Amino acid sequence: MTIETFEQTAAKEYYGVTLQSTTDLKTTACCSLDENLSPSVKAALIKINDEVLTKFYGCGSPLPPLLEGCTVLDLGCGTGRDAYVASQLAGPLGRVIGVDMTGEQLDVAQRNLNSQMARFGYQRPNVDFRKGYIEDLKALEIPDNSVDVVMSNCVINLSPDKRTVFSEILRVLKPGGELLFSDVFSGRRIPEHLRYDPVLHGECLAGAMYTEDFRRTLRDLGCLDYRILSNRRINLGSPEIEAVIGMVDFYSMTVRAFKLDSLEDLCEDYGQVAVYRGTIPEWPHFFDLDDHHRLLTGKPMLVCGNTAAMLGETRYAAHFDIRGDRSVHYGPFDCSPAAVKTAEEAGGGGACC
Ligand SMILES: C[S@@+](CC[C@H](N)C(=O)[O-])C[C@H]1O[C@@H](n2cnc3c(N)ncnc32)[C@H](O)[C@@H]1O
Repeated sequence: MTIETFEQTAAKEYYGVTLQSTTDLKTTACCSLDENLSPSVKAALIKINDEVLTKFYGCGSPLPPLLEGCTVLDLGCGTGRDAYVASQLAGPLGRVIGVDMTGEQLDVAQRNLNSQMARFGYQRPNVDFRKGYIEDLKALEIPDNSVDVVMSNCVINLSPDKRTVFSEILRVLKPGGELLFSDVFSGRRIPEHLRYDPVLHGECLAGAMYTEDFRRTLRDLGCLDYRILSNRRINLGSPEIEAVIGMVDFYSMTVRAFKLDSLEDLCEDYGQVAVYRGTIPEWPHFFDLDDHHRLLTGKPMLVCGNTAAMLGETRYAAHFDIRGDRSVHYGPFDCSPAAVKTAEEAGGGGACC
């Protein structure tokens, strides 16, 4: 990509020059509430250098379990906080690629590399930072079907071409690979005259994805179901910014999607049952696939075909006993929690939300 868009130039200026640390943010949109972190993520964070932490601008914690030995791609890695956490979770046999377009951000990530590897006890780095655009991962030599997990923390909203970003993600993911990302979403399309305000853009508001447009984008790319892990309404916390864009409802959401051909656009009932074995480290009693699928250890749970595929055709498969197949169809699957949710709570889920 040779000509930068407004969004790319504005984000480089905002994250490379305007912001010096998390405390410079004007709203709480790019600000993670880390209350639900797993013990291993908390332990990994303790080993992250202060310089990396002070320039953390994420809005969630998109770090799934079972990363050991995985190839992980962090889109818009910034100064590398999540990449360095993933580095510890992936272990010496795994690897992490961090991509960012802003030199100042990547410089911090890069100059901490040796000391972080020493703190983690690694003989050679398992992290490699690459400067470039998340819309063009080919230019960064990330091959098709090469990545187990793509994660991203408060970045995709900043992209001028979100469809291409998701298309690239689906290109580089291995079949069955997982996308887990935290980002800012909106309950309506952002008015055109506010889309080019550099502060609103930098604060991750002007480019926020309208939930239904996000669903349509994934559907058009062949990803027919995705799941919401968490959804928190953002309180902007700034009277000036509220005065300008307060008509829009913003959400900080963490979304999980898989590269699976077998997903359908609506939940279908094939009489399949999933039983969690209780074997995912740190999750002995249950596993939350999303915000309304908590699988209790040992308890058979009737699931739709999509949930069966997400648990049975991905790296989670070894931890679930999936009973039944799709040979007999019993009609649509009643995904009960959706029926009782308000539109706001539903927040634009995939087929099963
Ligand atoms: C809100 S910050 C989040 C950084 C990091 N994920 C974190 O949690 O600290 C957004 C980051 O995305 C990067 N970014 C935004 N748009 C990008 C694009 N199109 N390509 C590559 N990086 C981009 C910015 O340079 C910035 O470092």
